[in-house]
Amino acid sequence: ENSRIISPSVLSMDYSKMPEQVAQLNASPAKWLHFDVMDGHFVPNLTFGPDILKGFCKLSDLVMDVHLMVSDPAKYAPIFIDAGANMVTFHVEALDNDMEKVQSLLDEIHKLGAMAGVVVKPKTDVKIIQPVLSSCDMVLIMTVEPGFGGQSFMEDMMPKVKWLVNQREAKQLSYRIEVDGGINGTTYKTAVDSGADTLVAGSFVFKGNIIENVKALLK
Ligand code: DX5
Ligand code: ZN
Repeated sequence: ENSRIISPSVLSMDYSKMPEQVAQLNASPAKWLHFDVMDGHFVPNLTFGPDILKGFCKLSDLVMDVHLMVSDPAKYAPIFIDAGANMVTFHVEALDNDMEKVQSLLDEIHKLGAMAGVVVKPKTDVKIIQPVLSSCDMVLIMTVEPGFGGQSFMEDMMPKVKWLVNQREAKQLSYRIEVDGGINGTTYKTAVDSGADTLVAGSFVFKGNIIENVKALLK
């Protein structure tokens, strides 16, 4: 079992107060910073490029947890590692759920010196990733449809989390299990009880007192 890590999603940050809000994250018990890369094609929203990640890296020593929601993750993973990504997760759907392609990209990310993981959308069967689990530092279970912050937590994704816990145990692996979408001061308990050890939270963290909100997810 891994100890719990909070990875606040800067998708919900107030960018007019970016340095102040990053300073709050630095002063909080969050250990990671979740950076959502959207290309306007894999998902219907557009966010940050690598130069923005470089700016965050200058302001923070938090582990940069980069979630690629892009149609060509093999192209962009090296670019974001170069910009400072410590963990890169990419969607299996972007690689046609082809586990040979997924395996090659996991290997490539490791070769470039970063941690690597895969992400599954709500409608994707998590069991398809079984062949690549031993190469994953983390598996990210989406608990909303990717694209936007502020949506409701999908509790019906918890069987995927439990399956990952069982696989990890059965195969004696050590990957982290991250959940992303709709995590707040209530829903995090359901995720943690199911076995999630890495919690992404965007709108919940950035509404009100950032430090107190991060602490609330560690109770
Ligand atoms: C959604 C992103 C999430 C998003 C979560 O596509 O992957 O990381 O920021 O936002 P909340 O926590 O508000 O659901
Ligand atoms: Zn995300």
